[in-house]
Amino acid sequence: MRGRLRLRREAVLTLLLGAALSLLLYTQRDGAAPTTRAPAARGLPALRPALGPRDPQVPDAGAAPPAYEGDTPAPPTPTGLFDFGRYLRAKDQRRFPLLINQPHKCRGGGDGAPGRGPDLLIAVKSVAGDFERRQAVRQTWGAEGRVQGALVRRVFLLGVPRGSGTGGGTQAHWRALLAAESRAYSDILLWAFEDTFFNLTLKEIHFLSWASAFCPDVRFVFKGDADVFVHVRNLLQFLESRDPAQDLLAGDVIVQARPIRRRTSKYYIPEAVYGLPVYPAYAGGGGFVLSGATLRRLADACSQVELFPIDDVFLGMCLQRLRLTPEPHPAFRTFGISQPSAAPHLRTFDPCFYRELVVVHGLSAADIWLMWRLLHGPPSPACAHPQPAVAGPFQWNS
Ligand SMILES: *[C@@H]1O[C@H](CO)[C@@H](O)[C@H](O)[C@H]1NC(C)=O
Repeated sequence: MRGRLRLRREAVLTLLLGAALSLLLYTQRDGAAPTTRAPAARGLPALRPALGPRDPQVPDAGAAPPAYEGDTPAPPTPTGLFDFGRYLRAKDQRRFPLLINQPHKCRGGGDGAPGRGPDLLIAVKSVAGDFERRQAVRQTWGAEGRVQGALVRRVFLLGVPRGSGTGGGTQAHWRALLAAESRAYSDILLWAFEDTFFNLTLKEIHFLSWASAFCPDVRFVFKGDADVFVHVRNLLQFLESRDPAQDLLAGDVIVQARPIRRRTSKYYIPEAVYGLPVYPAYAGGGGFVLSGATLRRLADACSQVELFPIDDVFLGMCLQRLRLTPEPHPAFRTFGISQPSAAPHLRTFDPCFYRELVVVHGLSAADIWLMWRLLHGPPSPACAHPQPAVAGPFQWNS
């Protein structure tokens, strides 16, 4: 009965917050910050090596859209050319206050096991207006608690919505909404920088220092976008044999990517900003996992690396400073999954396909729900092709 009441309360709260946020978004349409869809646009073939084993999966422009594409908004592109001069002048300012904190997030086990940090901290990049996806993540793969014995905790990483600084009224409005959301779910981290695509690097360094300060005993951290689906059980199974005191950063690793020198590209980087012909190896920002040891070392290393506007490349630079190479994992698909033309034998919503994966990128709130239902629903008929999706040396023993 209490459970039912609580559920009712949650549902009403969800509706209220959702409605209020939609209204806010509607009134702020013109000054809207890019949503977390932006990194999805990073399924950009151009950032990838020119030739690579994964190239057949690069979506083909003429291919049919995957199922449920229709209910995801088109990825926004930053307006106008990026002002590098301004970026370079401002980039020494890299410490911003934490406006909403969750200081107790990692204290104790929550079930009579004080002192021990969580086994897995899930950190999800989000923007204020994306309440719907946060809700989907909270209630599906991002749920806190015990998963196969492992203690899982969750935070969302947010900055200040762009344009909200101007009208005092709207600023008070979204601050109140996020404060309410934080009280309801205790999972919002909000920093005082503008939440723009090119400030994701600030989000990265602020999160790393937050986690090493407030989550010093965490064993592993998953960091990703709000539009990914994470198969947490597979992830935990992968981590089972890993030692959190050793270095680990695994994900969808991109090697030998060349900086884009085309001015019109969203990822344009002038030679003056980065002169070398290739970027260091980096893990796609859509989702990667790291050990507690690497988290603490990265927090330190990144504080000594000059800001770079592409967050996952920046993290690659921090790794390089530590002389670490990220570990490629074939089950992290942060650059989106194959489209039918590239891999006709795969069906986007074939649960047999998802069973093999750890991270899939580019999903709407509805997709996330559906994936969850497919994975946690009644057992489906035996998969026709038992190991369809993951080529390469790594295999889940499902
Ligand atoms: C990053 O945030 C700062 C502080 O809010 C802001 O002044 C700056 O314009 C933002 N930078 C970019 C590239 O969006």
